[in-house]
Amino acid sequence: MSFLDLAKVRYSTKKYDNTKQISNEQIEELKQILRLSPSSINSQPWKFTFITNQTLKKELASQSYVNEQSINDVNLLVVFSVMENIEHFENRNLSVLPEAWIKGFYEPLIKSNGDEAVKSWLENQVYISLGFFLSACISMGLDATPMEGIDRTAYKNILKQDGYSPLFAVTVGYADAANDWAHPAVLPKSRFEMKEIIESF
Ligand SMILES: Cc1cc2nc3c(=O)[nH]c(=O)nc-3n(C[C@H](O)[C@H](O)[C@H](O)COP(=O)(O)O)c2cc1C
Repeated sequence: MSFLDLAKVRYSTKKYDNTKQISNEQIEELKQILRLSPSSINSQPWKFTFITNQTLKKELASQSYVNEQSINDVNLLVVFSVMENIEHFENRNLSVLPEAWIKGFYEPLIKSNGDEAVKSWLENQVYISLGFFLSACISMGLDATPMEGIDRTAYKNILKQDGYSPLFAVTVGYADAANDWAHPAVLPKSRFEMKEIIESF
């Protein structure tokens, strides 16, 4: 299927088939794909936490508002977190990069705008990996749902994350298409018109 056709059929699944599980091989492939996500100057300020343990997943589900049922119905939840300590990020992630990228890009264009700007830039990198991941899932025939509707603080505590802050999570599984109100066959994709969002010169 072309990428355009995949983009037309992927959707944020609201109802999963809890009788179908994704395989360990698929889970391992998804881990490798996430590791290969691109990021600005290859900064990689992230941690991807794969949760298949049912007890832990249920605990996270209980801190996920409207997303609780979906998380309980799939066998894989991935939590995307960002590094929270800028100094540590600079010492660990930036120290291995070419000096020219730090002096010519990071310091004058990002760091010079202050800590909030750096933090926002770090989070942006994690969101890039989300787009990469969602595309990968549908290319593998897997349905997925990005979820910002989680209690980030509760997630951080449950996962005992030190130095990282959870931003969002993604469920991966197989849709119960016949019973999902969000399936594109029931709810056609809604997007602004091309002419409103794309300009060409
Ligand atoms: C960053 C992000 C966070 C989202 N959070 C949730 C969520 O918590 N729960 C949910 O059901 N859908 C969530 N969505 C799904 C969006 O509502 C959905 O992508 C949008 O309506 C477009 O529909 P589509 O993904 O089916 O094409 C989120 C999407 C993104 C990109």
